[in-house]
Amino acid sequence: MIIIIDFGSQFNQLIARRVRECRVYCQIEPPTVTAEQIRSWSPDGIILSGGPSSIYEKNSPRVDAGIFDLGIPVLGICYGMHFMVDTLGGKVKKADKREYGFASLTARQPKGLFSGIGKETITWMSHGDSIDGLPKGFSISASTANTKVAAMANNRKKFFGVQFHPEVEHTAKGRIIIHNFLFDICGCKASWTMKSFARETVSQIRKTVGDKKVILGLSGGVDSSVTALLIHSAIGKNLTCIFVDNGLLRKDEATQLKEKLKSHLKINIRFVKAASRFLRALTNVSDPERKRKIIGKEFMDVFEAEALKIKDADFLAQGTLYPDIIESQSAFGGPTAVIKSHHNVGGLPKKMKLKLVEPLKYLFKDEVRKLGKTLGLDADLVWRQPFPGPGLAIRVIGEITKKRLDVLREVDSVLQEEIRAAGYYRKLWQSFAVLLPIKSVGIMGDGRTYENIVAIRAVTSKDAMTADWAKLPHRLLGKISNRIINEVRGVNRVVYDISSKPPSTIEWE
Ligand code: XMP
Repeated sequence: MIIIIDFGSQFNQLIARRVRECRVYCQIEPPTVTAEQIRSWSPDGIILSGGPSSIYEKNSPRVDAGIFDLGIPVLGICYGMHFMVDTLGGKVKKADKREYGFASLTARQPKGLFSGIGKETITWMSHGDSIDGLPKGFSISASTANTKVAAMANNRKKFFGVQFHPEVEHTAKGRIIIHNFLFDICGCKASWTMKSFARETVSQIRKTVGDKKVILGLSGGVDSSVTALLIHSAIGKNLTCIFVDNGLLRKDEATQLKEKLKSHLKINIRFVKAASRFLRALTNVSDPERKRKIIGKEFMDVFEAEALKIKDADFLAQGTLYPDIIESQSAFGGPTAVIKSHHNVGGLPKKMKLKLVEPLKYLFKDEVRKLGKTLGLDADLVWRQPFPGPGLAIRVIGEITKKRLDVLREVDSVLQEEIRAAGYYRKLWQSFAVLLPIKSVGIMGDGRTYENIVAIRAVTSKDAMTADWAKLPHRLLGKISNRIINEVRGVNRVVYDISSKPPSTIEWE
């Protein structure tokens, strides 16, 4: 088991994820944790995370220095390394040259932590401070052009520090470095599995919720389905799920989901039909943010009315994932800008005095899929591509009418069929169609047409924070275009969106 001390870096969960990828259990703890507590858990090693502070600033976060007397290996990353240096008698100062981005690292000790990474490797840096004096017993184990102490080691005590971030994808051999720390240095065993995660989470939910009732908004996506399964395993019939059909779903989706959710989840689910009130509220609205706000509000109202029927509910469960927390950090006062108002039941817990249960909040999407599979979730639900809360309303650009939604539904259904048939559905993060508010001239048979244009969007991504447009084969694109124009009345042109995120977003609105 590994303890990660959280000094506030936005990459903390990535460190945890890397450790889990190595099948080692880890726990993230705040700097207020004591060395005694840590000793009582008998971990195999400690990782000190990075963070936004400078160690020489007043009130910079510090953890009990007693961790260095426990006789277990410690790896400090960036700020974590500065803390180690400062605490053990070395010196940290403002760097002459700050380093952000890629840096080529030369390993001076190609053994231990750096075993198997070669002499030169690309790393990713993000720091304004650097080491000016090593603590006693340490030596430099790697350098970059700008940073002499890019890594340090006290091999006898098994204390290590790295100035770069081994947990990010940009550090080419980062996974090897973490692997070396866990197995060669800490002597961990690769025994942690999703099954054990499920078991621990279920017992944690049981402890938190006790015999109280829980409400969950079920969308049919993998996140809320897995959340439902976990909570259901923990508390059974004390969980009630609410599924709102807002009239903005894909073709036949509401019916199919109803069948799937009922037959596979065997959970208490209430289905609410609310299409007409959503469409009414959206009449004559074209502005994307207004659409999102209206849908968010309608959803809240419908959900609240339904939730109030459930007597004595104390908890609201949500399938929030780790990237959702990062993306909406501004909502909690963080520095990121609000790009789109994401639609969730944000205001509800406070209004209804509900406590939140978010069992997936430290996981990434692919981990949730693995967990779903472990829990026996139907493969169709496990592999569902993400679908936004505001649904097709943000894919019918401009004004939304039932007729335009229906055109888009037909187009989308052809697209999904072809993407699945070609074996691309699981490889893509998302694939969908967008109905544009402009018309173009075409020719069908012998006549002139003046009809709608649809755009096809297909992207690959790991977590939706960045995405690349999918390089689908031309033949497949040709077939999709042909079928749409031939089969869907009202469409005479198909275009393919070749923008990546950033600077574009995945959804158009
Ligand atoms: P963007 O368009 O911001 O989307 O690049 C990133 C991911 O989030 C999904 N998305 C949403 N999901 N409610 C959701 O639950 C929303 O309001 C929402 N808006 C975008 C989008 O489909 C993509 O996967």
